[in-house]
Amino acid sequence: MDLKEILAVEAQSYLDNVDTLGLGTGKTVRTLIKHLHKEGLLTKFNVVCSSIDTELAVSQLGGKVLSIQNGIVPDVYLDSFDTLVRRRILVKGGGGALLREKLLAAHSKTRVYLGEGWKLREFPVSVPLEVVPATLHYIYSQLKREGYTVSLRESTGKAGPVVTDNGNLLMDLEARESEDLCQLESRLRGIVGIVETGIFCPNLYDHIVIAHDSSIERIERV
Ligand code: A5P
Repeated sequence: MDLKEILAVEAQSYLDNVDTLGLGTGKTVRTLIKHLHKEGLLTKFNVVCSSIDTELAVSQLGGKVLSIQNGIVPDVYLDSFDTLVRRRILVKGGGGALLREKLLAAHSKTRVYLGEGWKLREFPVSVPLEVVPATLHYIYSQLKREGYTVSLRESTGKAGPVVTDNGNLLMDLEARESEDLCQLESRLRGIVGIVETGIFCPNLYDHIVIAHDSSIERIERV
């Protein structure tokens, strides 16, 4: 079993008595969906997803997908992360689904994140930002003036930038080592046009499950 499969098995222990399941986006979540399908569990849940990609993956395997626009409150939200900084702050958005991921994390009863040990990293950390298209150049100039390195995320499947499921664009900002990421998050959210950042502070998780090569580590929110 690879580490993502081990994480999928671990995730199952959070699914007793769950009716409405929130799912994040990415390869870890895809492995989890396949695992639930294989175990005959996927159809047990009403699923609300953080991206069109996850909605497709669930529905293609016969799972029942509810629209995120219905304001459903998941009993449990399962997702992964790109980086866990200092075993405390998650950075997400590598797959561009950060806004809906944060929305579901903010409204779910229990939030569980799954990741491999190599995702525990220190600086440099690249922070994804979802921005309204018309504000892009203003934001770019402002962040450059503040001394940040920022780039527009380019698509590989088409010419031009990545457009999110919400019709916005993505920028990636290099956070400074000296910076408190949760303070940076509230500062960035204060800039007109930045609708979300990929920084997930401890208020957005309950459990983090990390698969190392020969052990499982659990971090609980304090
Ligand atoms: C999607 O926007 C991201 O937040 C993902 O949760 C994160 O990138 C982890 O994805 P993988 O499971 O593909 O590593």
